[in-house]
Amino acid sequence: MAEARHQAERSIRTSPRFRIPFGAATMRTGARAGQKIEFALDSTTSMNGHLILAGSSGSGKSHQLRRIVDALGHAGVRVHLIDPHGDLQVSAGLTDSRVFSEATQAGLNPLEVASDPDHGGPRRAAVNFVSLMLRQATLGEKQRSALLRLLMDMYARYGFEPGNARSWSLDFDPRGWAKNPKRQPVLSDLKRDVHQKLVQLKIGVPGSAARALEEVCKLAKKHSTLKMRNIRGDDVEQALAAAKEKFVERISEAVNRMETGAEIEELIAWDSFDVVKGLYDRLESLEGSGLFKGEAPAFDVDRPVWRYNISAIARNEQQFFVECLLGKLFAEAKARGEANGPDTAIVLDEASAFIDSDDEHILNILFREARKFGVMVILAAQEISTFPQAIISSAASKMILGVDEMYHAALERRLALPKGKLRFIRPHRTALVQSRRRSGDEVELAGFFEVDVIG
Ligand SMILES: Nc1ncnc2c1ncn2[C@@H]1O[C@H](COP(=O)(O)OP(=O)(O)OP(=O)(O)O)[C@@H](O)[C@H]1O
Ligand SMILES: [Mg+2]
Repeated sequence: MAEARHQAERSIRTSPRFRIPFGAATMRTGARAGQKIEFALDSTTSMNGHLILAGSSGSGKSHQLRRIVDALGHAGVRVHLIDPHGDLQVSAGLTDSRVFSEATQAGLNPLEVASDPDHGGPRRAAVNFVSLMLRQATLGEKQRSALLRLLMDMYARYGFEPGNARSWSLDFDPRGWAKNPKRQPVLSDLKRDVHQKLVQLKIGVPGSAARALEEVCKLAKKHSTLKMRNIRGDDVEQALAAAKEKFVERISEAVNRMETGAEIEELIAWDSFDVVKGLYDRLESLEGSGLFKGEAPAFDVDRPVWRYNISAIARNEQQFFVECLLGKLFAEAKARGEANGPDTAIVLDEASAFIDSDDEHILNILFREARKFGVMVILAAQEISTFPQAIISSAASKMILGVDEMYHAALERRLALPKGKLRFIRPHRTALVQSRRRSGDEVELAGFFEVDVIG
């Protein structure tokens, strides 16, 4: 097995070739003055496949995206087209389109452990999940580490051990005692654990007793329903009495076991009931959105373009969905290994809603690290002067369609453009394009050029 892995490490897979023109510009100065030069997104000559498209509403971003996605699909690149507005129809024959909404059965599992020995495992899954949650609920330093411990405990209970890479796949279960077949934990499992923490915080009992108390509550509810309907429920009554006894037992066990007081320390780490309640509520609404049940969508592998129509989802859930999806796509790409060019494209329209200045945000990671693994990222947005500098400078290609004058100064500063350059763009006719190439001998082509747009 080790041998096979080494083999895989050495081989770099070959990606499809493509050349997708942005348009041609007439050189004004330099050795090529007067010549027409075509700029293109090119699998062999572009520095990387990353592309940023910017322009005001109606300037043609979605139009250009459709054209580019179409060409990528024809070339045999696997395109993940994330469509927050639901207006990115591309050639029907190329595309498998899925609408994601509350009613859809398929979703994503944000807690999934990747089995790849280099890039997978429960610790990474837990860290990723905590950073996803940071954007969803307010968590301080202490609560972050408490949530991390909670996740690690959960993964261990489901048979995923941090130090044992064999256990990162469903094929191997280190829990000799497990009754049910091994499976990935999902949001509802985590929600249950967080609920137990809530109970603990409220009544100050350790975990095992909190679980027993939940059983007492469940049976008490059942018992009172029966009573209301005047139905005799001797078995429920007995079970309730037994559950109460068990709860008292657990409490006394826990108190007797207490030597270091660590259980209480653990509770203190959560700090406040309200914070855990906030986390719980967030998990509940994410689960309620129906998008994170854990059943991955089964796209048609024979269609190159997979379109995720997320226009029916609320903004908050869209963000979580996209971050979760990008994380999964990157993990899959890393597990496939290195490529000599892009064979996977991630395309995100209306990208402003999804960017984040945190270096560890998945989009920033993708721009930094994904090229090597054959992933190119294409972002379209109305306003990109707020994009992290790292994203702007990593993207070898940029296409600026018409931009509102209000943003000219900020954008010119961000892109280091000469002052006033954006004024000359004629919407739907011309665009400013930068397309940096691998070969260093074409420095005179490194800046922005005004190209005639391809319709
Ligand atoms: N180069 C072009 N030639 C002719 N028509 C174009 C061109 N580019 C865009 N259009 C048309 O302009 C309209 C607006 O384009 P599009 O929807 O792509 O804008 P957008 O930048 O995505 O806007 P928004 O930010 O509102 O989503 C569409 O009807 C499109 O067909
Ligand atoms: Mg659009």
